[in-house]
Amino acid sequence: MSAGNDTAGPLTTESGAPVADNQNSQTAGAGGPVLVQDQLLLEKLAHFNRERIPERIVHARGAGAYGTFTVTADVSRYTRAKFLSEVGKETETFLRFSTVAGNLGSADAVRDPRGFALKFYTEDGNYDLVGNNTPVFFIKDAIKFPDFIHTQKRDPYTGSQEADNVWDFWGLSPESTHQVTWLFGDRGIPATLRHMNGYGSHTFQWTNEAGEVFWVKYHFKTDQGIKNLTQDEADVLAGQDPDSHQRDLRESIERGEYPSWTVQVQIMPAADAATYRFNPFDLTKVWPHEDYPPIELGKLELNRNPENIFAEVEQSIFSPHHFVPGIGPSPDKMLQGRLFAYGDAHRYRVGINADHLPVNRPHATEARSHGRDGLMYDGRHGRTKNYEPNSFGGPTETGRALWEPTEVSGVTGDHSAPSHAEDNDHVQAGNLYRLMSEAEQERLIANLAGFISQVSREDIAQRAIENFRKADEEYGKRLEAAVQALRS
Ligand code: HEM
Repeated sequence: MSAGNDTAGPLTTESGAPVADNQNSQTAGAGGPVLVQDQLLLEKLAHFNRERIPERIVHARGAGAYGTFTVTADVSRYTRAKFLSEVGKETETFLRFSTVAGNLGSADAVRDPRGFALKFYTEDGNYDLVGNNTPVFFIKDAIKFPDFIHTQKRDPYTGSQEADNVWDFWGLSPESTHQVTWLFGDRGIPATLRHMNGYGSHTFQWTNEAGEVFWVKYHFKTDQGIKNLTQDEADVLAGQDPDSHQRDLRESIERGEYPSWTVQVQIMPAADAATYRFNPFDLTKVWPHEDYPPIELGKLELNRNPENIFAEVEQSIFSPHHFVPGIGPSPDKMLQGRLFAYGDAHRYRVGINADHLPVNRPHATEARSHGRDGLMYDGRHGRTKNYEPNSFGGPTETGRALWEPTEVSGVTGDHSAPSHAEDNDHVQAGNLYRLMSEAEQERLIANLAGFISQVSREDIAQRAIENFRKADEEYGKRLEAAVQALRS
Protein backbone atom coordinates (compact mmCIF):
# COMPACT_ATOMS: atom_id res chain seq x y z
CA MET A 1 0.00 0.00 0.00
CA SER A 2 1.61 3.27 -1.04
CA ALA A 3 -1.26 5.80 -0.77
CA GLY A 4 -0.67 6.84 -4.39
CA ASN A 5 2.80 8.17 -3.63
CA ASP A 6 4.38 5.95 -6.28
CA THR A 7 2.48 7.57 -9.14
CA ALA A 8 2.92 10.99 -10.69
CA GLY A 9 0.34 13.69 -10.00
CA PRO A 10 -0.14 16.63 -7.71
CA LEU A 11 1.33 16.64 -4.24
CA THR A 12 -1.47 17.30 -1.75
CA THR A 13 -2.10 18.36 1.83
CA GLU A 14 -3.22 15.69 4.33
CA SER A 15 -6.80 16.46 3.37
CA GLY A 16 -6.06 16.02 -0.32
CA ALA A 17 -5.90 19.59 -1.64
CA PRO A 18 -3.24 20.21 -4.32
CA VAL A 19 -0.08 21.93 -3.09
CA ALA A 20 1.19 24.84 -5.17
CA ASP A 21 4.57 25.46 -3.48
CA ASN A 22 6.36 23.00 -1.22
CA GLN A 23 9.60 25.02 -1.09
CA ASN A 24 8.59 28.48 0.17
CA SER A 25 6.30 29.29 3.08
CA GLN A 26 3.90 32.21 2.81
CA THR A 27 5.01 35.58 4.14
CA ALA A 28 3.52 39.04 4.41
CA GLY A 29 5.48 40.41 1.47
CA ALA A 30 8.92 39.16 0.39
CA GLY A 31 11.14 39.17 3.52
CA GLY A 32 8.17 39.67 5.86
CA PRO A 33 6.87 37.41 8.73
CA VAL A 34 5.20 34.07 8.07
CA LEU A 35 1.41 33.87 7.76
CA VAL A 36 -0.87 31.72 9.92
CA GLN A 37 -2.98 31.14 6.85
CA ASP A 38 -0.18 28.90 5.43
CA GLN A 39 -1.94 25.64 6.30
CA LEU A 40 0.63 23.51 4.52
CA LEU A 41 3.47 24.86 6.68
CA LEU A 42 1.50 24.47 9.92
CA GLU A 43 0.32 21.00 9.00
CA LYS A 44 3.84 19.83 8.07
CA LEU A 45 5.41 21.15 11.26
CA ALA A 46 2.63 19.76 13.45
CA HIS A 47 2.66 16.33 11.82
CA PHE A 48 6.43 16.13 12.12
CA ASN A 49 6.24 16.85 15.85
CA ARG A 50 4.01 13.82 16.30
CA GLU A 51 5.98 11.26 14.27
CA ARG A 52 7.18 9.34 17.33
CA ILE A 53 5.27 7.11 19.69
CA PRO A 54 6.78 6.05 23.03
CA GLU A 55 9.51 3.51 22.42
CA ARG A 56 9.12 0.12 24.08
CA ILE A 57 10.18 0.35 27.74
CA VAL A 58 12.39 -2.69 27.02
CA HIS A 59 13.34 -4.23 23.66
CA ALA A 60 13.08 -0.80 22.00
CA ARG A 61 15.66 -1.61 19.36
CA GLY A 62 14.47 -4.21 16.88
CA ALA A 63 14.04 -5.55 13.37
CA GLY A 64 11.27 -7.69 11.94
CA ALA A 65 10.37 -9.92 9.02
CA TYR A 66 7.44 -12.00 7.82
CA GLY A 67 7.75 -15.70 7.22
CA THR A 68 6.20 -19.11 7.06
CA PHE A 69 5.93 -21.78 9.71
CA THR A 70 5.53 -25.31 8.38
CA VAL A 71 4.62 -28.33 10.50
CA THR A 72 7.06 -31.21 9.94
CA ALA A 73 5.92 -33.68 12.62
CA ASP A 74 2.56 -34.81 13.93
CA VAL A 75 2.02 -33.40 17.44
CA SER A 76 -1.76 -33.56 17.36
CA ARG A 77 -1.78 -36.07 20.24
CA TYR A 78 -0.33 -33.33 22.47
CA THR A 79 -2.20 -30.22 21.34
CA ARG A 80 -5.42 -29.40 19.54
CA ALA A 81 -3.92 -26.13 18.21
CA LYS A 82 -5.21 -26.10 14.63
CA PHE A 83 -2.08 -24.59 13.11
CA LEU A 84 -0.14 -27.60 14.42
CA SER A 85 -2.75 -30.14 13.33
CA GLU A 86 -1.09 -31.80 10.32
CA VAL A 87 2.27 -32.28 8.69
CA GLY A 88 2.82 -29.83 5.84
CA LYS A 89 0.43 -27.22 7.19
CA GLU A 90 1.72 -23.67 6.69
CA THR A 91 1.03 -20.59 8.80
CA GLU A 92 2.08 -17.01 8.08
CA THR A 93 4.29 -15.48 10.77
CA PHE A 94 5.92 -12.19 11.75
CA LEU A 95 9.09 -12.24 13.85
CA ARG A 96 10.58 -9.24 15.62
CA PHE A 97 14.13 -9.49 16.97
CA SER A 98 15.41 -7.00 19.50
CA THR A 99 17.99 -6.14 22.11
CA VAL A 100 16.68 -5.58 25.63
CA ALA A 101 18.34 -2.64 27.34
CA GLY A 102 19.27 -0.23 24.55
CA ASN A 103 17.11 2.62 23.34
CA LEU A 104 15.63 2.79 19.85
CA GLY A 105 18.78 4.22 18.26
CA SER A 106 21.33 2.05 20.08
CA ALA A 107 23.84 -0.30 18.44
CA ASP A 108 23.03 -3.88 17.47
CA ALA A 109 26.36 -5.54 18.30
CA VAL A 110 26.14 -5.47 22.09
CA ARG A 111 26.13 -8.06 24.87
CA ASP A 112 22.46 -8.40 25.70
CA PRO A 113 19.79 -11.07 25.30
CA ARG A 114 17.98 -10.87 21.96
CA GLY A 115 14.21 -10.79 21.84
CA PHE A 116 12.63 -13.42 19.59
CA ALA A 117 8.97 -12.38 19.36
CA LEU A 118 6.98 -14.52 16.98
CA LYS A 119 3.42 -14.04 15.82
CA PHE A 120 1.61 -16.95 14.16
CA TYR A 121 -1.38 -15.72 12.17
CA THR A 122 -3.52 -18.82 12.76
CA GLU A 123 -7.10 -19.56 11.74
CA ASP A 124 -8.02 -19.49 15.45
CA GLY A 125 -6.51 -16.03 15.97
CA ASN A 126 -2.99 -14.83 16.48
CA TYR A 127 -0.68 -16.88 18.67
CA ASP A 128 2.29 -14.92 20.03
CA LEU A 129 5.38 -16.58 21.42
CA VAL A 130 7.35 -13.72 22.94
CA GLY A 131 10.68 -15.33 23.71
CA ASN A 132 14.40 -14.61 23.74
CA ASN A 133 17.55 -16.17 22.31
CA THR A 134 18.21 -17.56 25.79
CA PRO A 135 16.43 -20.55 27.32
CA VAL A 136 16.39 -18.95 30.80
CA PHE A 137 16.00 -15.52 32.40
CA PHE A 138 17.58 -13.46 35.21
CA ILE A 139 14.71 -13.56 37.68
CA LYS A 140 11.75 -15.78 38.48
CA ASP A 141 9.09 -13.41 39.77
CA ALA A 142 7.47 -10.61 37.77
CA ILE A 143 7.44 -8.37 40.84
CA LYS A 144 11.22 -7.96 40.43
CA PHE A 145 11.12 -7.01 36.73
CA PRO A 146 10.83 -3.19 37.02
CA ASP A 147 13.70 -3.12 39.55
CA PHE A 148 15.81 -5.40 37.39
CA ILE A 149 15.28 -3.30 34.27
CA HIS A 150 16.02 -0.08 36.17
CA THR A 151 19.50 -1.50 36.85
CA GLN A 152 20.03 -2.32 33.17
CA LYS A 153 18.89 1.05 31.90
CA ARG A 154 20.20 4.54 32.65
CA ASP A 155 21.00 5.65 36.20
CA PRO A 156 18.73 8.49 37.38
CA TYR A 157 21.74 10.70 38.19
CA THR A 158 24.44 9.81 35.65
CA GLY A 159 22.12 9.08 32.74
CA SER A 160 24.27 6.04 31.81
CA GLN A 161 24.15 2.32 32.49
CA GLU A 162 26.19 1.81 35.69
CA ALA A 163 28.21 -1.28 36.55
CA ASP A 164 27.41 -0.61 40.23
CA ASN A 165 23.66 -0.94 39.66
CA VAL A 166 23.89 -3.96 37.36
CA TRP A 167 26.14 -5.97 39.70
CA ASP A 168 24.39 -4.80 42.86
CA PHE A 169 21.12 -6.25 41.56
CA TRP A 170 22.65 -9.45 40.18
CA GLY A 171 24.68 -9.99 43.36
CA LEU A 172 21.55 -9.59 45.46
CA SER A 173 19.54 -11.85 43.12
CA PRO A 174 21.41 -15.18 43.10
CA GLU A 175 18.81 -16.70 40.77
CA SER A 176 20.36 -14.56 37.99
CA THR A 177 23.68 -16.51 38.09
CA HIS A 178 22.61 -19.02 35.42
CA GLN A 179 21.45 -16.42 32.90
CA VAL A 180 24.45 -14.16 33.61
CA THR A 181 26.80 -17.11 32.95
CA TRP A 182 24.96 -17.68 29.68
CA LEU A 183 25.06 -13.99 28.71
CA PHE A 184 28.78 -13.50 29.33
CA GLY A 185 29.65 -16.72 27.51
CA ASP A 186 30.20 -16.98 23.76
CA ARG A 187 26.52 -16.74 22.84
CA GLY A 188 26.09 -13.38 24.57
CA ILE A 189 26.77 -11.44 21.35
CA PRO A 190 25.36 -13.19 18.26
CA ALA A 191 27.14 -12.40 14.97
CA THR A 192 23.78 -11.77 13.27
CA LEU A 193 20.14 -12.32 14.06
CA ARG A 194 20.19 -15.28 11.69
CA HIS A 195 22.98 -17.10 13.51
CA MET A 196 21.32 -17.58 16.87
CA ASN A 197 18.64 -19.80 18.38
CA GLY A 198 15.30 -18.66 19.78
CA TYR A 199 13.46 -20.02 22.80
CA GLY A 200 9.95 -19.69 24.19
CA SER A 201 11.87 -19.81 27.51
CA HIS A 202 8.81 -20.27 29.74
CA THR A 203 6.93 -23.51 30.18
CA PHE A 204 3.57 -23.43 28.40
CA GLN A 205 0.54 -25.68 28.51
CA TRP A 206 -0.52 -27.81 25.55
CA THR A 207 -3.84 -29.64 25.73
CA ASN A 208 -5.14 -32.16 23.28
CA GLU A 209 -8.66 -32.87 22.01
CA ALA A 210 -9.32 -35.18 24.99
CA GLY A 211 -8.34 -32.43 27.44
CA GLU A 212 -5.05 -34.07 28.49
CA VAL A 213 -2.42 -31.59 29.64
CA PHE A 214 1.28 -31.43 28.69
CA TRP A 215 3.89 -28.89 29.72
CA VAL A 216 6.12 -27.76 26.87
CA LYS A 217 9.18 -25.66 26.12
CA TYR A 218 9.91 -24.37 22.60
CA HIS A 219 13.32 -24.27 20.92
CA PHE A 220 14.13 -22.63 17.56
CA LYS A 221 17.47 -23.99 16.35
CA THR A 222 19.11 -21.85 13.71
CA ASP A 223 19.72 -23.64 10.40
CA GLN A 224 22.46 -21.10 9.61
CA GLY A 225 24.61 -22.41 12.48
CA ILE A 226 25.55 -20.52 15.64
CA LYS A 227 27.98 -17.65 15.06
CA ASN A 228 29.04 -15.15 17.68
CA LEU A 229 31.16 -12.04 18.05
CA THR A 230 33.87 -11.67 20.67
CA GLN A 231 33.66 -8.64 22.92
CA ASP A 232 36.48 -6.95 20.98
CA GLU A 233 34.87 -7.63 17.60
CA ALA A 234 31.54 -6.33 18.87
CA ASP A 235 33.05 -3.18 20.36
CA VAL A 236 34.48 -2.26 16.94
CA LEU A 237 31.38 -3.22 14.97
CA ALA A 238 28.99 -1.39 17.31
CA GLY A 239 30.95 1.80 16.68
CA GLN A 240 31.44 1.35 12.96
CA ASP A 241 28.02 0.05 12.03
CA PRO A 242 25.36 0.43 14.72
CA ASP A 243 22.73 -1.07 12.38
CA SER A 244 24.76 -4.20 11.58
CA HIS A 245 22.15 -6.79 12.60
CA GLN A 246 19.14 -5.06 11.14
CA ARG A 247 20.90 -4.53 7.81
CA ASP A 248 22.12 -8.12 7.67
CA LEU A 249 18.60 -9.46 8.16
CA ARG A 250 17.04 -7.20 5.53
CA GLU A 251 19.78 -7.77 2.98
CA SER A 252 19.80 -11.53 3.37
CA ILE A 253 16.05 -11.63 2.70
CA GLU A 254 16.46 -9.25 -0.26
CA ARG A 255 19.08 -11.63 -1.68
CA GLY A 256 16.65 -14.52 -1.35
CA GLU A 257 18.75 -16.14 1.38
CA TYR A 258 15.88 -16.85 3.69
CA PRO A 259 16.98 -17.62 7.24
CA SER A 260 15.29 -20.59 8.85
CA TRP A 261 15.02 -22.33 12.18
CA THR A 262 14.16 -25.92 13.06
CA VAL A 263 11.45 -25.79 15.67
CA GLN A 264 11.59 -28.29 18.51
CA VAL A 265 9.59 -28.84 21.63
CA GLN A 266 10.29 -30.53 24.97
CA ILE A 267 7.16 -32.20 26.26
CA MET A 268 6.48 -33.13 29.89
CA PRO A 269 3.33 -35.10 30.80
CA ALA A 270 1.36 -33.12 33.40
CA ALA A 271 1.73 -35.88 36.00
CA ASP A 272 5.55 -35.46 36.03
CA ALA A 273 5.52 -31.83 37.10
CA ALA A 274 5.02 -32.22 40.85
CA THR A 275 7.94 -34.59 41.32
CA TYR A 276 10.39 -33.36 38.65
CA ARG A 277 13.86 -32.66 40.11
CA PHE A 278 13.60 -28.96 39.20
CA ASN A 279 10.54 -26.75 39.51
CA PRO A 280 9.39 -27.03 35.87
CA PHE A 281 7.87 -23.53 36.01
CA ASP A 282 11.05 -21.78 37.17
CA LEU A 283 12.29 -19.56 34.32
CA THR A 284 15.86 -19.53 35.67
CA LYS A 285 16.17 -23.26 34.94
CA VAL A 286 16.26 -25.42 31.82
CA TRP A 287 14.89 -28.94 31.57
CA PRO A 288 18.06 -30.90 30.81
CA HIS A 289 17.68 -32.63 27.45
CA GLU A 290 18.40 -36.04 28.96
CA ASP A 291 15.20 -35.62 31.00
CA TYR A 292 12.97 -34.40 28.16
CA PRO A 293 14.63 -34.71 24.73
CA PRO A 294 13.53 -32.00 22.28
CA ILE A 295 11.43 -33.40 19.45
CA GLU A 296 11.11 -31.77 16.05
CA LEU A 297 7.92 -29.94 15.33
CA GLY A 298 8.37 -27.67 12.33
CA LYS A 299 10.36 -25.23 10.28
CA LEU A 300 10.28 -21.46 10.48
CA GLU A 301 11.49 -19.47 7.48
CA LEU A 302 11.68 -15.68 7.18
CA ASN A 303 11.06 -14.65 3.58
CA ARG A 304 9.57 -11.15 3.37
CA ASN A 305 10.77 -7.79 4.62
CA PRO A 306 8.31 -5.27 6.00
CA GLU A 307 7.62 -2.40 3.60
CA ASN A 308 7.39 0.24 6.29
CA ILE A 309 9.39 -0.05 9.50
CA PHE A 310 7.27 2.30 11.58
CA ALA A 311 3.93 0.77 10.59
CA GLU A 312 5.00 -2.86 10.75
CA VAL A 313 7.88 -3.06 13.25
CA GLU A 314 7.52 -0.10 15.59
CA GLN A 315 3.75 -0.53 15.85
CA SER A 316 3.84 -4.32 15.98
CA ILE A 317 2.61 -5.73 19.26
CA PHE A 318 3.24 -9.15 20.76
CA SER A 319 1.69 -10.45 23.93
CA PRO A 320 2.28 -13.65 25.90
CA HIS A 321 -1.48 -13.66 26.55
CA HIS A 322 -2.30 -14.12 22.86
CA PHE A 323 -3.11 -17.84 23.01
CA VAL A 324 -5.17 -20.03 20.69
CA PRO A 325 -7.25 -23.13 21.52
CA GLY A 326 -4.93 -25.93 22.68
CA ILE A 327 -2.20 -23.65 24.10
CA GLY A 328 -2.15 -21.80 27.42
CA PRO A 329 0.00 -20.47 30.24
CA SER A 330 1.79 -22.38 33.00
CA PRO A 331 1.83 -21.17 36.61
CA ASP A 332 5.34 -19.68 36.03
CA LYS A 333 5.17 -16.46 38.08
CA MET A 334 7.12 -14.51 35.44
CA LEU A 335 4.80 -15.59 32.68
CA GLN A 336 1.77 -14.77 34.81
CA GLY A 337 3.05 -11.19 35.26
CA ARG A 338 3.73 -10.91 31.55
CA LEU A 339 0.15 -11.89 30.76
CA PHE A 340 -0.81 -8.44 32.06
CA ALA A 341 2.23 -6.32 31.19
CA TYR A 342 2.20 -6.48 27.39
CA GLY A 343 -1.41 -5.59 26.64
CA ASP A 344 -1.04 -2.70 29.06
CA ALA A 345 2.12 -1.54 27.26
CA HIS A 346 0.37 -1.74 23.90
CA ARG A 347 -2.58 0.33 25.05
CA TYR A 348 -0.15 2.99 26.29
CA ARG A 349 2.36 2.84 23.45
CA VAL A 350 0.22 2.24 20.35
CA GLY A 351 -3.32 2.82 21.59
CA ILE A 352 -6.53 0.97 22.29
CA ASN A 353 -6.98 -0.03 18.65
CA ALA A 354 -3.43 -1.39 18.24
CA ASP A 355 -4.79 -4.91 17.69
CA HIS A 356 -6.44 -3.79 14.47
CA LEU A 357 -3.43 -2.40 12.62
CA PRO A 358 -2.52 -4.49 9.57
CA VAL A 359 0.54 -6.14 11.15
CA ASN A 360 -1.31 -6.96 14.37
CA ARG A 361 -4.73 -8.07 13.30
CA PRO A 362 -5.53 -11.71 12.55
CA HIS A 363 -4.67 -12.59 8.93
CA ALA A 364 -6.23 -16.05 8.74
CA THR A 365 -9.48 -15.18 10.50
CA GLU A 366 -11.13 -11.99 11.72
CA ALA A 367 -11.58 -10.49 15.18
CA ARG A 368 -15.29 -10.51 16.03
CA SER A 369 -15.40 -8.77 19.40
CA HIS A 370 -17.75 -6.23 20.92
CA GLY A 371 -14.86 -3.94 21.82
CA ARG A 372 -15.70 -0.64 20.11
CA ASP A 373 -14.70 2.90 19.41
CA GLY A 374 -11.77 4.62 21.15
CA LEU A 375 -8.96 6.63 19.64
CA MET A 376 -8.50 5.98 15.89
CA TYR A 377 -11.42 3.55 15.62
CA ASP A 378 -12.03 2.81 11.93
CA GLY A 379 -15.71 1.85 12.11
CA ARG A 380 -15.08 -1.71 10.97
CA HIS A 381 -18.12 -3.05 12.82
CA GLY A 382 -20.50 -0.86 10.84
CA ARG A 383 -24.00 -0.83 12.26
CA THR A 384 -23.83 -4.23 13.98
CA LYS A 385 -24.87 -4.58 17.63
CA ASN A 386 -22.16 -3.89 20.20
CA TYR A 387 -23.25 -6.19 23.03
CA GLU A 388 -23.68 -9.88 23.76
CA PRO A 389 -25.92 -11.77 24.37
CA ASN A 390 -28.26 -10.14 21.88
CA SER A 391 -31.18 -11.23 19.74
CA PHE A 392 -29.75 -9.97 16.44
CA GLY A 393 -27.36 -12.74 15.46
CA GLY A 394 -23.62 -12.13 15.37
CA PRO A 395 -20.78 -13.72 17.27
CA THR A 396 -21.41 -15.78 20.42
CA GLU A 397 -19.25 -17.49 23.04
CA THR A 398 -18.10 -21.06 22.36
CA GLY A 399 -18.35 -22.52 25.89
CA ARG A 400 -14.92 -24.16 25.56
CA ALA A 401 -11.87 -22.67 27.29
CA LEU A 402 -8.68 -22.35 25.22
CA TRP A 403 -6.68 -24.32 27.78
CA GLU A 404 -7.30 -26.62 30.73
CA PRO A 405 -7.49 -25.53 34.38
CA THR A 406 -4.61 -26.23 36.77
CA GLU A 407 -5.02 -27.59 40.27
CA VAL A 408 -4.03 -25.31 43.17
CA SER A 409 -3.80 -25.71 46.94
CA GLY A 410 -2.86 -23.70 50.04
CA VAL A 411 -3.53 -20.16 51.16
CA THR A 412 -3.12 -16.82 49.37
CA GLY A 413 -0.01 -14.80 50.18
CA ASP A 414 3.44 -13.66 49.03
CA HIS A 415 4.87 -17.09 48.23
CA SER A 416 8.22 -17.80 46.63
CA ALA A 417 8.11 -20.39 43.85
CA PRO A 418 8.25 -23.91 45.35
CA SER A 419 11.67 -25.60 45.40
CA HIS A 420 12.00 -29.13 44.04
CA ALA A 421 14.54 -31.80 45.07
CA GLU A 422 17.58 -30.47 43.13
CA ASP A 423 16.63 -26.80 43.04
CA ASN A 424 18.93 -24.04 44.15
CA ASP A 425 19.95 -20.81 42.46
CA HIS A 426 23.44 -21.97 41.48
CA VAL A 427 23.24 -25.59 40.36
CA GLN A 428 22.52 -25.03 36.68
CA ALA A 429 24.97 -22.11 36.42
CA GLY A 430 27.69 -24.49 37.63
CA ASN A 431 26.59 -27.16 35.16
CA LEU A 432 26.73 -24.65 32.29
CA TYR A 433 30.20 -23.48 33.34
CA ARG A 434 31.51 -27.05 33.44
CA LEU A 435 30.01 -27.74 30.01
CA MET A 436 32.13 -25.00 28.43
CA SER A 437 35.51 -25.67 26.84
CA GLU A 438 38.58 -24.28 28.57
CA ALA A 439 38.82 -21.53 25.93
CA GLU A 440 35.19 -20.54 26.39
CA GLN A 441 35.62 -20.47 30.16
CA GLU A 442 38.59 -18.12 29.63
CA ARG A 443 36.49 -15.75 27.54
CA LEU A 444 33.59 -15.95 30.02
CA ILE A 445 35.86 -15.02 32.92
CA ALA A 446 37.43 -12.18 30.92
CA ASN A 447 34.04 -10.79 29.91
CA LEU A 448 32.68 -10.94 33.46
CA ALA A 449 35.86 -9.56 35.02
CA GLY A 450 35.95 -6.68 32.52
CA PHE A 451 32.53 -5.56 33.73
CA ILE A 452 32.80 -6.40 37.46
CA SER A 453 36.09 -4.52 37.68
CA GLN A 454 34.18 -1.33 36.83
CA VAL A 455 32.14 -1.63 40.06
CA SER A 456 33.12 1.12 42.50
CA ARG A 457 32.30 -0.70 45.76
CA GLU A 458 34.23 -3.73 46.94
CA ASP A 459 31.24 -5.23 48.83
CA ILE A 460 29.12 -5.16 45.66
CA ALA A 461 31.86 -6.77 43.56
CA GLN A 462 32.52 -9.42 46.21
CA ARG A 463 28.86 -10.34 46.57
CA ALA A 464 28.58 -10.72 42.80
CA ILE A 465 31.66 -12.97 42.66
CA GLU A 466 30.32 -15.07 45.53
CA ASN A 467 27.41 -16.21 43.39
CA PHE A 468 29.78 -17.64 40.77
CA ARG A 469 31.82 -19.34 43.52
CA LYS A 470 28.64 -21.01 44.77
CA ALA A 471 28.00 -22.24 41.23
CA ASP A 472 31.50 -23.72 40.99
CA GLU A 473 34.42 -23.13 43.37
CA GLU A 474 36.93 -22.86 40.52
CA TYR A 475 34.68 -20.49 38.54
CA GLY A 476 34.57 -18.09 41.51
CA LYS A 477 38.30 -18.36 42.21
CA ARG A 478 39.30 -17.63 38.62
CA LEU A 479 36.88 -14.75 38.40
CA GLU A 480 38.12 -13.17 41.61
CA ALA A 481 41.73 -13.39 40.41
CA ALA A 482 40.80 -11.87 37.05
CA VAL A 483 38.95 -8.98 38.69
CA GLN A 484 41.84 -8.32 41.04
CA ALA A 485 44.32 -8.37 38.16
CA LEU A 486 42.30 -5.76 36.30
CA ARG A 487 41.97 -3.58 39.38
CA SER A 488 45.61 -3.60 40.39
C1 HEM B 1 7.70 -10.35 34.27
C2 HEM B 1 8.67 -10.12 33.43
C3 HEM B 1 8.53 -9.25 32.22
C4 HEM B 1 7.81 -8.12 32.02
C5 HEM B 1 6.92 -7.39 33.02
C6 HEM B 1 8.04 -7.71 30.65
C7 HEM B 1 7.50 -6.59 30.07
C8 HEM B 1 7.72 -6.18 28.78
C9 HEM B 1 7.17 -4.99 28.17
C10 HEM B 1 6.27 -3.99 28.88
C11 HEM B 1 7.60 -4.96 26.89
C12 HEM B 1 7.29 -3.89 25.85
C13 HEM B 1 6.08 -4.32 25.05
C14 HEM B 1 5.67 -3.28 24.06
O1 HEM B 1 5.80 -2.08 24.32
O2 HEM B 1 5.16 -3.67 22.98
C15 HEM B 1 8.39 -6.13 26.67
C16 HEM B 1 8.95 -6.49 25.47
C17 HEM B 1 9.51 -7.71 25.22
N1 HEM B 1 9.77 -8.71 26.15
FE1 HEM B 1 9.33 -8.66 28.08
N2 HEM B 1 8.87 -8.60 30.05
C18 HEM B 1 9.19 -9.56 30.97
C19 HEM B 1 9.99 -10.66 30.76
C20 HEM B 1 10.37 -11.13 29.55
C21 HEM B 1 10.90 -12.44 29.28
C22 HEM B 1 11.14 -13.50 30.34
C23 HEM B 1 11.09 -12.53 27.94
C24 HEM B 1 11.61 -13.66 27.11
C25 HEM B 1 11.62 -14.91 27.51
C26 HEM B 1 10.68 -11.27 27.36
C27 HEM B 1 10.72 -10.97 26.02
C28 HEM B 1 10.30 -9.78 25.48
C29 HEM B 1 10.40 -9.48 24.08
C30 HEM B 1 10.94 -10.39 22.99
C31 HEM B 1 9.91 -8.18 23.92
C32 HEM B 1 9.82 -7.40 22.62
C33 HEM B 1 8.52 -7.72 21.93
C34 HEM B 1 8.47 -7.00 20.61
O3 HEM B 1 9.31 -7.31 19.75
O4 HEM B 1 7.61 -6.13 20.45
N3 HEM B 1 10.25 -10.45 28.35
N4 HEM B 1 8.48 -6.85 27.83
